[in-house]
Amino acid sequence: MYRSHTCGELTANQIGLEVTLSGWVAKNRDLGALTFLDLRDRYGITQLAFNLDTNADLCLQARKLSRESVIQIQGKVIERESKNPKMPTGDIEILVESLNILSISQTPPFTIEDESDGSEEIRMQYRYLDIRRNPVKESLLFRHRVSMAVRNYLSDLGFIDVETPYLIKSTPEGARDFVVPSRMNPGTFYALPQSPQTFKQLLMVGGMDKYYQIVKCFRDEDLRADRQPEFTQIDCEMAFVEQEDIIQVFEGLTKHLLHKIKGVEIDKFPRMTYEEAMKTYGNDKPDIRFGMKFVELSDFPKGFPVFDAAELVVGINVEQAANYSRKQIDELIEWIKRPQVGAQGMVWVKYNEDNTVKSSVDKFFDENTLRLWVEKFGAKAGDMMLIMAGNADKTRSQLSALRMELATRLGLRKSDEFAPLWVVDFPLLEWDEENKRFHAMHHPFTAPKPEDMHLLDTAPGEVRANAYDLVLNGNEIGGGSIRIFDKAIQSRMFDLLGFTPEEAQNQFGFLLNAFQYGAPPHGGLAFGLDRLVAILGGQETIRDFIAFPKNNAGRDVMIDAPSPLDTKQLDELYISLKPKK
Ligand code: AMO
Repeated sequence: MYRSHTCGELTANQIGLEVTLSGWVAKNRDLGALTFLDLRDRYGITQLAFNLDTNADLCLQARKLSRESVIQIQGKVIERESKNPKMPTGDIEILVESLNILSISQTPPFTIEDESDGSEEIRMQYRYLDIRRNPVKESLLFRHRVSMAVRNYLSDLGFIDVETPYLIKSTPEGARDFVVPSRMNPGTFYALPQSPQTFKQLLMVGGMDKYYQIVKCFRDEDLRADRQPEFTQIDCEMAFVEQEDIIQVFEGLTKHLLHKIKGVEIDKFPRMTYEEAMKTYGNDKPDIRFGMKFVELSDFPKGFPVFDAAELVVGINVEQAANYSRKQIDELIEWIKRPQVGAQGMVWVKYNEDNTVKSSVDKFFDENTLRLWVEKFGAKAGDMMLIMAGNADKTRSQLSALRMELATRLGLRKSDEFAPLWVVDFPLLEWDEENKRFHAMHHPFTAPKPEDMHLLDTAPGEVRANAYDLVLNGNEIGGGSIRIFDKAIQSRMFDLLGFTPEEAQNQFGFLLNAFQYGAPPHGGLAFGLDRLVAILGGQETIRDFIAFPKNNAGRDVMIDAPSPLDTKQLDELYISLKPKK
């Protein structure tokens, strides 16, 4: 038996007990007559004491042990002389009677402590050591708690977990596919699923009724803090439902998680149309933990060329910011001019504590106009308004970036505050100016809103979809839709997306065929588990909640993937590489 107890469970209640423990040497302190080791495992740390007078051999052996070596000890639980109230095991230590060295460790490349001295790159390379550190370990345990809560909740509601294949067919819609060559079918390729979308719909045609799966998805897209090339979805689908049914079930699940995991009670999630979200926050995933809602200005005297030429003039009121210095404002202007935001500039209007109004456009607008704006923005003495102008879409997105940045600088994005909302009524289609074609805004299987069906032929860009996103603290944590279940409408949709009937049949014939054999009305949603867990955990970088994540270049630096194949393997797969240009 390697252990009778874990390193996190012994307390004063076990004093006098003979125990066996196994774990990693976290610390080694030689105090002359006594040597103390901290023994660590997943459950905690227990102090081990070695006495030079009573057992010199053992003590000398212990002194030489390198950090991170794995040992097994036997000994007696005794009361500690100097107790450590911060540790659950801080009242006791083990007077060691025998030591079994299981595995000697080299000096690790970074310290295995809560605050490590290792760079991100080196910790990724030795991820198994990083996982020994409390913050990473806790994130993985936290993820486990969230996924178990999800499984239990859905299973109790009658959802069944069905696995869908990972080797599927490549489709032209959505992000780029990761592809896998087939040795047995020369010159052909599987694709790894970007999501199990069509399979879950086929499960509904198969009568499965309520499906869920915690499933890996693969997308070859540019990475960001909240994106990984392989990530996990809580993927769900239901038959005989309308949008409201789905919203109810998954609002219920989210409320349950917030309650169970964070102890937060939220009554009803607000809902906002896509149009309203874009107009009020310049963003389809607004962070509503704080205000700074957009205010559009249409009434202003002519004379300021930037405003006169603009399609949209829109601003935000920043509370208690009238005391911003010239330098602070210039810094913000520099920030919005960075290529990532791409703004030309902004106008500021200060409504000072002494009730005076001062702006960067005093030359162009008289005091009356500025005071009208103060009223329009609902600004109070001490506030500052920031206004941007230009092309409507661009300006909204730039002001949205500024709003988020200010919120971060002002400490308004509190990680222990949770503000979920549903964004509904997304447009069905999105016009791609570069390729002069429509893309499905969600995916090609999303149903148009029945009341907009008549626009499909005349104004397809105006058709709204029965699609919804679940947003939490400014992050899209889930999205879904009611699906098309009629072959004719699905074919029309493929047609709008620029597929010929042959292409549609070739790519999605399996689904169109299935719809000929009795398809129930159905719909669903998928949560991004990594994102959900990270936000519940108070962070926005999903990498910390994934055991073995990829770096920003999509590489696993620990196993060194992706990596070249040798010629024999390439030959076997009928792949010949073109020389690099
Ligand atoms: P969608 O593409 O919106 O919908 O994805 C669902 C959720 O998955 C998360 N997500 C990601 N998380 C990490 N890294 C990524 N690269 C990544 N991409 C997406 C997001 C997102 O909200 N089949 C549909 C769902 C449906 O209609 O039922 C789908 O995949 O949190």
